[in-house]
Amino acid sequence: MQIKRIEISNFRNFCFIEIGLGARINLILGQNGQGKTNLLESVYLLTTGTSFRYGDVESYINFTQPDPRLLIRGTLERQGLVSDVRYSLTNRTRTIEINGKKSTTTKLTELFSTVLFSPESLMSIKGPPEQRRELLDEMVISINQGSRTLFTQFRRALRSRNRILSAIAQGEMSRNLGVPVLESLNPTYFDLAVKITMSRLSLLRKIMPLAAEIFSSITRNATPLSLEYVASGNSFLKKELTDIYDAMHKRKIELFESELSAGTTIIGPQKHDIQFRYGGKDSRIYCSQGQQRAIILSLKIAQIRYHYELYKFFPILLLDDVMSELDPEVRKGLITFLNETDAQTLITTTDVNLHEELSGKGLVLYSMFNGKIDPGSAKI
Ligand SMILES: Nc1ncnc2c1ncn2[C@@H]1O[C@H](COP(=O)(O)OP(=O)(O)O)[C@@H](O)[C@H]1O
Ligand SMILES: [Mg+2]
Repeated sequence: MQIKRIEISNFRNFCFIEIGLGARINLILGQNGQGKTNLLESVYLLTTGTSFRYGDVESYINFTQPDPRLLIRGTLERQGLVSDVRYSLTNRTRTIEINGKKSTTTKLTELFSTVLFSPESLMSIKGPPEQRRELLDEMVISINQGSRTLFTQFRRALRSRNRILSAIAQGEMSRNLGVPVLESLNPTYFDLAVKITMSRLSLLRKIMPLAAEIFSSITRNATPLSLEYVASGNSFLKKELTDIYDAMHKRKIELFESELSAGTTIIGPQKHDIQFRYGGKDSRIYCSQGQQRAIILSLKIAQIRYHYELYKFFPILLLDDVMSELDPEVRKGLITFLNETDAQTLITTTDVNLHEELSGKGLVLYSMFNGKIDPGSAKI
């Protein structure tokens, strides 16, 4: 799929910009603070309805402008089907329209797909488990479009359960009244918890062998890469639906008193962790920063390949300033992948020489300065 043109009004440091994008690699060059990440963020917003940056929708609107309305509009094409997509924000209300009809983020995820490579995501091995779960869930939603609803339902069920647990712990609700309510919420909560866990596991099982292969090829290292999915100290990687259900059910009974006194849910996919193992050893401890980044990069490349295998189209790839973060051989591996893959790609960089490493065929160069971008020129 690809984004053919984008028009942005009053988003972050843009007043108004409009550009056409090339079908292959689009390289956006500019110094720090000029709006490169903002441009990628606008493509991400348009194709997923959400941002990859922290902060309220209020922060999207250009604060230097008197007009509080924000509009991002783009022409998207997927497998020959062209759609006009609009994302607008007026008085904190978000509206998504596809071909003039009101739509939703769920619909966007069903139709389009975007994969982001950010320096933060490449560092997620070192970070807290939450960051790895986020990375994985993003992948699950991108590969299995219907699962976005599952995540929304799960968050809602978790909130309801936590509300009751907290009310009991704070003494706002008696135990006698609260426990039956909690029990009535449990079937839905655990059903969704098991489904989320399973959707993560089935994706990991599919893409991990491919990721391991990519990792050894780009690092030129035969040490095997493997994965562990950990729940309450146990490996879940090989477990099936009923085993997971039984394990969670058992933990629910064991941790009954602990949950009541903690006032929050302590069992479920929001507590699980993913560990990458390098030669069987924990990569957090035994791998260099460069190797850790290469692991995440391999996982993302595996996700993109698998996406293509399933759907016969590539997601749009957004690479935000990641080249400078990579060791030379890993960077070379990524560049080879990008040059050989038919995906539309937007790369931001401060490196004036990066274009020399990218294949000239279909490469379009843009420069970004103070919220303005030139129309782009093909590399000769
Ligand atoms: N809501 C906003 N209104 C106006 N400017 C903004 C807003 N949000 C961010 N910015 C500005 O955007 C610039 C950063 O853009 P960014 O895309 O992150 O730069 P880079 O080119 O380094 O990726 C900063 O100058 C920041 O002040
Ligand atoms: Mg940036």
